[in-house]
Amino acid sequence: MKPKVLVTREVFDEVLEYLAQYVEVQSNQSDRPMNPEELAAALSGKHGAVITISDRIDAALLKRCPDLKVVCNVAVGTNNIDLDACRSAGVMATNTPGVLEDSTADFAWALILAAARRVTEAESYLRKGAWDRWKLKQLLGMDVHHATLGIIGMGGIGRVVARRAAGFDMTVIYHNTRPAPEEVEKQCRARYVSKPDLLSQADIVTLHVPYTPATHHLVGKAELAQMKSTAILINTSRGGVVDDTALIEALRNGTIAGAGLDVFENEPKYNPDFVTLTNVVLTPHIASSSRITRHKMAMLAAENLVAALTGSVPPNLLNPH
Ligand code: DGY
Repeated sequence: MKPKVLVTREVFDEVLEYLAQYVEVQSNQSDRPMNPEELAAALSGKHGAVITISDRIDAALLKRCPDLKVVCNVAVGTNNIDLDACRSAGVMATNTPGVLEDSTADFAWALILAAARRVTEAESYLRKGAWDRWKLKQLLGMDVHHATLGIIGMGGIGRVVARRAAGFDMTVIYHNTRPAPEEVEKQCRARYVSKPDLLSQADIVTLHVPYTPATHHLVGKAELAQMKSTAILINTSRGGVVDDTALIEALRNGTIAGAGLDVFENEPKYNPDFVTLTNVVLTPHIASSSRITRHKMAMLAAENLVAALTGSVPPNLLNPH
């Protein structure tokens, strides 16, 4: 008998076809997110699950799913999974590193350029028919070329963001829990600095850290106050890394010049005050969402699941016993 698995959200047909060769699949192609109660009910009797960042896997849920052996996140971030609870319950957990760094870094650059050059603000000005003449001082923005880029979090994505900066002749500084190896610094042309130095020197601060208790509100009122008033903040990491209330205040009173945000506290219920501001570019958590990358992420999660349920070690196992 094939193991039974749940795919909690819509995925590509090829992923379901691949899974069906090895496991009996119940999928949620209607894509309606399940609340914890519905998720627990749907997981009952399942041996594995392909999950997304909106599915919370914790001790309470695991207690109700004694047959579960593996949960496979379609994401590199894992803050929706309580890894300790998984370990105690003997449930393997996996993520999708190695397939989304380039696309996510590309999107960080899209936000950098859009926020610095006021692209969305300019577009909405044009769309509403307000453009009546060319003006020398129209929608003046900030130059990205030759600016100082400050990267907080020099993991896979941060490193790609840094490498892209060479094309803009930028100075790159970074902060991380520990300095990156020398060859990485060389490749990225990046210099390690303290967090206060990064905040006070960078024209663009971009965040690429995982969301953990240690990174909760890593950028809040005090950090925003340390940034240049001409600087912009970019967040493609996770909501919660930035204190959104403090950021709204800083954008409103000119503590910093602008922001580009793909992630929010309590998303998708972001703070509505953001949309009242013109100096912030807002997108709905799509940094990894190129057609090819999202396909690779879903397929990798499926491969992890099949490996786990056919007796192999999943390639991206997060909690080896
Ligand atoms: C990730 O991989 O963690 C992304 O945020 C999911 O879109």
